[in-house]
Amino acid sequence: MKRVLVATDGSDGGNRAVDAAAELAKTTNATLVIATVGGNVTGAELRRLASTDGDLSKTLETKADRVLRQAARRARRLGIKSPILRCGWGDPAETILDFVRREKADVVVVGRRGRSRLSQLLLGSVSQKVTNLAPCTVVVVP
Ligand SMILES: Nc1ncnc2c1ncn2[C@@H]1O[C@H](COP(=O)(O)OP(=O)(O)OP(=O)(O)O)[C@@H](O)[C@H]1O
Ligand SMILES: [Mg+2]
Repeated sequence: MKRVLVATDGSDGGNRAVDAAAELAKTTNATLVIATVGGNVTGAELRRLASTDGDLSKTLETKADRVLRQAARRARRLGIKSPILRCGWGDPAETILDFVRREKADVVVVGRRGRSRLSQLLLGSVSQKVTNLAPCTVVVVP
């Protein structure tokens, strides 16, 4: 195994995916790529963000940066010295799949659920789409 890519939205599920991916990368001596797709906030969050001062796009960038920094910290704690960090914009699943192809990942790791947890579905829509369309092995972390 050469490259493990993990997608996180900063949720508990995303954090568990990062931990599992870091352990997998560590034991298989693989490079770890951590990816997040920014800008996917709920309507309520967006209203709150838009009503606060400052540049909305800057705020969203800062949020995405924070997700990546926090994930990198978790990975380092598990022994991954220099994870590769990637931030994208757009449809989360499509963007994750783009990263998987571009980074030539051998495995993609996602959480079962993410930040919205609105529907009663067992799998979130992003993990579902990634699982269905990924060109490589997919690991879904509960
Ligand atoms: N914006 C994102 N950037 C990177 N990874 C993401 C993103 N959104 C989701 N993921 C990945 O997909 C996993 C499942 O999240 P998903 O969004 O599918 O579920 P959800 O938020 O519970 O439901 P919903 O379908 O309403 O978004 C997350 O744990 C994470 O690994
Ligand atoms: Mg989600």
